[in-house]
Amino acid sequence: EKGGYDHFMLKEIYEQPNVITDTYRGRLHANEGLIKMAGIEDNLQKFLNAPRILIIACGTSWHAGLVAEYIFEEFARIPVEVEYASEFRYRNPIINENDVVIAISQSGETADTLAAIKLAKEHGAFVFGVCNVVGSSISRETHAGAYTHAGPEIGVASTKAFTTQITVLTLIALRLAQAKGTLSNSMFHRYLQELELIPEKVSEALETNDVAKAIADIYKDAPNCLYLGRGYNFPVALEGALKLKEISYIHAEGYPAAEMKHGPIALIDEQMPVVIIAPRQEHYDKIVSNIQEIKSRSGKIIAIVTRGDVQVKELADHVIEIPETTDALSPLITTIPLQLLSYHIAVMRGCNVDQPRNLAKSVTVE
Ligand code: M6R
Repeated sequence: EKGGYDHFMLKEIYEQPNVITDTYRGRLHANEGLIKMAGIEDNLQKFLNAPRILIIACGTSWHAGLVAEYIFEEFARIPVEVEYASEFRYRNPIINENDVVIAISQSGETADTLAAIKLAKEHGAFVFGVCNVVGSSISRETHAGAYTHAGPEIGVASTKAFTTQITVLTLIALRLAQAKGTLSNSMFHRYLQELELIPEKVSEALETNDVAKAIADIYKDAPNCLYLGRGYNFPVALEGALKLKEISYIHAEGYPAAEMKHGPIALIDEQMPVVIIAPRQEHYDKIVSNIQEIKSRSGKIIAIVTRGDVQVKELADHVIEIPETTDALSPLITTIPLQLLSYHIAVMRGCNVDQPRNLAKSVTVE
């Protein structure tokens, strides 16, 4: 059942190159410069007329929503708000009938997300679902949707659902950008081609497994861990921290790297491991100076860098090298070593990786 892997989580981490391909199959036509998604084509005007898009989700799906916020705004120039379903449903939110709501859920059964969808529908909004489980409650409750094709995710810690959600949302953002003309033709084509290369690059990123395991061995007893990232990789920092805390029970926090100096920097001393997502991309120099700030306070730096990196390598205690891709698609790659790191730490601590204490795969109660 686990296909030779010790845990479902590890199997699912390794499935990512295949399931990302499954998710874009039939939808991404890089050579023809086309994206075909029935749920989007049938409702294209609704998306194009929307004054804004509201994204509602919980947990890891909410993190995918945050990545999507950056991508939608950058590519399609549509204002996006991302909200926890549990907050949205109880705070009398402003929802207008032209708003488009995107609900993201692996299981399609999350109680708070389902209730938030019902509320949005009552206000006349159009609700689009991004679910993994076919025929789930959320997929039935939404007006239209696009499935991720991640296959069954058994491990409570979400891994392949996250990357396939980002894949679907990126396809949608690109299609809307094409319709709106907000991306140049050449950029549009470049993104399609780059997206097609992602599964191969995810496979390469999986080759960091041994390095991640060696680092895990050093930090497995740490009581705390900080995750930092900027831009598209800020949500990846949140996701990395969530993964670590839920399966290894180590307290971890994710932060936008530049926010560190507004508080968390006080936590840094030689006992504090800091995982910093620092691929060579826009604002690279900013992340380098964030790393310097940590180093001068003796924090232990574990950096996720682009292969061939020089500057961060000089400063960091450990580096995990990943293949290069465009900024907007980098979360699909940077996430991989973070999944592996938390997996190995949890295994080394003797934790029940697939079924962490107190957690359920789908949270069907509020
Ligand atoms: O099935 P959903 O995507 O709606 O689930 C949302 C969260 O419960 C889920 O992502 C949870 O945070 C995971 N355990 C994270 O790994």
